[in-house]
Amino acid sequence: MRGVGRDGGLPRTPGGGVLAVREDPRVHRRFVRLSARGAGADQQEEQRATDTHRPAPSGTGLWYRSVRARPGNSSARRRRSLGAGEPPGRELLRRDGGSTMDRLRVGVVGLGGNGRAFVRGYELSDLCDLVAVCDLNPVRVDEAAAEVCGGPQKYTDLERMLDSANLDALSVHTPDHLHADPFIAGLQAGCHVLVEKPMGNTIADLERMTAAARASDRKTLVGHILRFNPIYAEVHRRCADGDLGDVFYLEADYFHDLKRQAEPERTNPFIGGVNWWLEHEKVIVGGGAHQFDLLRWYANAHAVEVTGYGNSIAFPEMKHPDCMCAVFKLASGAVAKVGAAYGVVGPRPEWMNLEVYGTKGTVRNAQLITGDHADPTIEDLGVEYSGHPFQPEIAHFLQSIIDDTPTLVDAFEGANSAAATIMACESIEADGKPMAVPYFQR
Ligand SMILES: NC(=O)c1ccc[n+]([C@@H]2O[C@H](COP(=O)([O-])OP(=O)(O)OC[C@H]3O[C@@H](n4cnc5c(N)ncnc54)[C@H](O)[C@@H]3O)[C@@H](O)[C@H]2O)c1
Repeated sequence: MRGVGRDGGLPRTPGGGVLAVREDPRVHRRFVRLSARGAGADQQEEQRATDTHRPAPSGTGLWYRSVRARPGNSSARRRRSLGAGEPPGRELLRRDGGSTMDRLRVGVVGLGGNGRAFVRGYELSDLCDLVAVCDLNPVRVDEAAAEVCGGPQKYTDLERMLDSANLDALSVHTPDHLHADPFIAGLQAGCHVLVEKPMGNTIADLERMTAAARASDRKTLVGHILRFNPIYAEVHRRCADGDLGDVFYLEADYFHDLKRQAEPERTNPFIGGVNWWLEHEKVIVGGGAHQFDLLRWYANAHAVEVTGYGNSIAFPEMKHPDCMCAVFKLASGAVAKVGAAYGVVGPRPEWMNLEVYGTKGTVRNAQLITGDHADPTIEDLGVEYSGHPFQPEIAHFLQSIIDDTPTLVDAFEGANSAAATIMACESIEADGKPMAVPYFQR
């Protein structure tokens, strides 16, 4: 591995892990307001924020805290911190022992809305340099490169980027049905690879991808970002700690108005002139895999069989049904249900429904209910929901590489979440025929 370092400026957990950053505009505003009260008050507030650190579920290595928004342009900050004579983009960091080491060299492929969010995320991280960006569309390449300090190398061909950019890690943000080839190429080029969810949207792709992961010693992380959301992580901690007893039923939904995905400008001439959201997106795989992955995580069990139904009433422009509902039989004996629909009227609710039922307790969204039914104890789980915590996800990926520790959702975890939803889609398209779910063993 070429690059090791630490997230400069971020405090560390008692165990030495780096504290993850939770992006929350409300927190940023709070700190802006506090700054006006002077440095002393600011310091006290920082200390109070530190006191409220909460560990994420065991094994994640993540903690969450409120942090101040970085002032100004991160690129400018980075340039200022470079010592005289150091080459741009290769800032040197010191780890605890005082030795001097390089930062990880990262490349991003796929520069749509999601890839661009990751470009900004890597650019903010002190663990890496974003040294290369790639998209088939050269305009997107130029636009993304303009956001990055030091001018990353620009590519319209992934193979060329892997051959010449000398990457430690590749981050894959291509459309759902085009994840497999970049993921495999990245591993075969010796890179650690982050790939967006769903890991793949066919079983054949998952088989190829897990085979490549098995043959590689590199880290893989599948972008199941909800696991990095403090409230969902807290529910996992309560399940893992046994607060719910034996989990017997779980449900969660992905309900969204995504009809904008039919906009004509979304047709991409660089991938055969298709609108992939309409042609290839399967709502229970692309959207519902978020929720199914959580349920599988909470139940600590994979799916063995699934059956489901769907329709194309609300958003018939989609090739696959835009409303899907599936019931999964898990290996633990628990039953799980996931609904997914993209033609929903109204803004996306903050909570899209999460319920977990155990022999000792029930979770309904952000509440844990325990005790006797006549005299229940209702506990507010007390952790905020935070939309898309890309920064903690990125920090976890990079820190896992640096520390050589397992990632929270490796290729096999990601494959087992995707596989069940792919088979749900198969069942729905076969009018409810039960389907066995393949299991991907490490
Ligand atoms: N985790 C989340 O919350 C979240 C949110 C949004 C999107 N996503 C996922 O992110 C991925 C990308 O979504 P998007 O909305 O940015 O899509 P998009 O279509 O806007 O962007 C994808 C880009 O990949 C490029 N591309 C395709 N094949 C390529 C190749 N072989 N080499 C180089 N570039 C290539 C396309 O030209 C396009 O610019 C999807 O898998 C999506 O499901 C995840």
